Amino acid sequence: MCGISGIISSNTITKKLLNSIQNLEYRGYDSCGMAIINSHGPVIRKNIGHVADVAEKELFLSMDGYVGIAHTRWATHGGVTPANAHPHANCDGSIAVVHNGIISNYLDLKQTLIKKRHHFISETDSEVIPHLIEEYRKGGMPLESAFSAALKELEGSFAVAMVAYEEPGRIFCAKHESPLIIGLGNNENYLGSDFNAFIEYTKDAVVMDDGEYAIISNEGYAIKRIGDGSPVLKKVMQIEWDAEMSKKGGFPHYMLKEIYEQPETVNKALAISQEAIISLARGLVDSRRAFLTGVGTTFYAAQIGQYYLASEAGLSIPAISSDEFLESTPAGEGDFVLAVSQSGETYDTLRVLREAKNRKAKTAAIVNVIGSTMARLVDTTVMQGSGPEICVISTKAALAQMVILIRTAIEAGIITGKLTPADRKAKLKQLETLPGLISDFLNEHSAFVHNLAKRQAHHHNWLYLGRGKYYPIALEAALKVKEVAYLHTEGMPAGFLKHGTIALIDEKLKCLVFVPTEKEHELYKMTMSSIEEIKARGGSVVAIHSSRAFAKSPLLDDQLLLPSAPPLVMPLVALVASQLLSYFFATTLGRNVDKPRALAKSVTVA
Ligand code: M6R
Repeated sequence: MCGISGIISSNTITKKLLNSIQNLEYRGYDSCGMAIINSHGPVIRKNIGHVADVAEKELFLSMDGYVGIAHTRWATHGGVTPANAHPHANCDGSIAVVHNGIISNYLDLKQTLIKKRHHFISETDSEVIPHLIEEYRKGGMPLESAFSAALKELEGSFAVAMVAYEEPGRIFCAKHESPLIIGLGNNENYLGSDFNAFIEYTKDAVVMDDGEYAIISNEGYAIKRIGDGSPVLKKVMQIEWDAEMSKKGGFPHYMLKEIYEQPETVNKALAISQEAIISLARGLVDSRRAFLTGVGTTFYAAQIGQYYLASEAGLSIPAISSDEFLESTPAGEGDFVLAVSQSGETYDTLRVLREAKNRKAKTAAIVNVIGSTMARLVDTTVMQGSGPEICVISTKAALAQMVILIRTAIEAGIITGKLTPADRKAKLKQLETLPGLISDFLNEHSAFVHNLAKRQAHHHNWLYLGRGKYYPIALEAALKVKEVAYLHTEGMPAGFLKHGTIALIDEKLKCLVFVPTEKEHELYKMTMSSIEEIKARGGSVVAIHSSRAFAKSPLLDDQLLLPSAPPLVMPLVALVASQLLSYFFATTLGRNVDKPRALAKSVTVA
């Protein structure tokens, strides 16, 4: 989504503010801007493009001041134009505002303000905010009251920050359903959509909650309720992540760095206390009905959970994409909803959890971002500890979530009696081989994957097929290709192919098939049937598999041979191979790997 940052200090802040918004660029990157207060008022500079380019073009570093706000945008209302970039100002330019979220009643507000002779420049919903504040100021209200009165008129979601000429020593900000965090320094305080905005400057932070606004000076901050202006006391939290973790560390792209970090993130997922995992398993087993949810990649992670809960615990627990959950699944009292989310801020998933709570269902979440809304909303949170994931494309966070869900399935298996303690021990041992398998694969097979990508990247239409646990893997792998390489790739169960889609098979459509281990006899044979069906229609097959015998098969047009691994972990090894393939597809095609077109790291709007 959009990224907001702000700094107020006893020293000049321009460089730090620019750095701060650069560190948030992964949240959205179609345009950006800064407003810095100097002796003439807020000076606003903004334009379309990535932060580094706009900063150069608009001479951001030549702006000077002690207080400022900045924004990096992911367009929702209004195209990608300089006028729609933030900050937005009121009519006389004395107030500058940045906003993340969607003001759902902006058209009504805009009409009313236009009738009162306010002049609008952009097509955004956000621009109503400075004008509303200005309107209240005209009536003689003090700035703080005007700010909170304007907030009360906004419907929808918002994280807002404002600077104003008349009060140059304060940043005003507010939160409702979009994240906002205050960072506390020495004679210098910060504001950010997430910790990356200020992690280089301080590790002390205060997380704002919905319905709150704050006033920040260089010496302190005060948080109040939007409703009645009453003060709110908050705990200062320590950010455990370290600034270095958010750097590229010699890798050409964050995506590659994060793929290579996976042995470590799997180890972190394996180190999560058994107690925490059992609490998830208990929730799933003991409830009247249980559901898994997430969206995009985290929906596929949830689906992996569904398959392992079936195989390890004999449980039937559906994974439902959070964007469709409420319309298809009325969870209520006695039910348990387990959500999966890297950011902990995804609108669709939060909507499910809020509604589930309203209907008295129990909620839990596997989340990566410390202090995120989801982590604080649910009854039980398991922090996955994968460290900052900066690339918009999720890799290491998703794999860690899958490992946590497999561990949960194993504990659920003990509770349901499907597994014995000896089975659990053996299965955990197999899971523990995963970091080594991944690191060997990445170190030894990367060149093979790169060459495969170079041979195949010019094919524009793909079917990614898998059966059983390899089906959600195929879906997730296909999403990666779409997101980062912009190749049309449809993920599908291999068995579903013959029920219609097979009509598309010709020599131009490439089919990438995830083949199970030979030990999974039935599944292996059925996947082979699908391959035969494709070949019989003149199709072209690329396989990701681990069978030394199949490697010689004339059915194969191309392949990626995986190391041998236990069936329990092989789908995850195949996933890592497919992540790397997507990465090399993207680099071969010259795509912008870490900031693919049209995407944003966390989607906090409907
Ligand atoms: O932060 P979340 O895990 O809740 O985000 C969910 C999806 O938006 C996210 O996984 C998205 O699909 C990624 N771009 C995947 O690479």
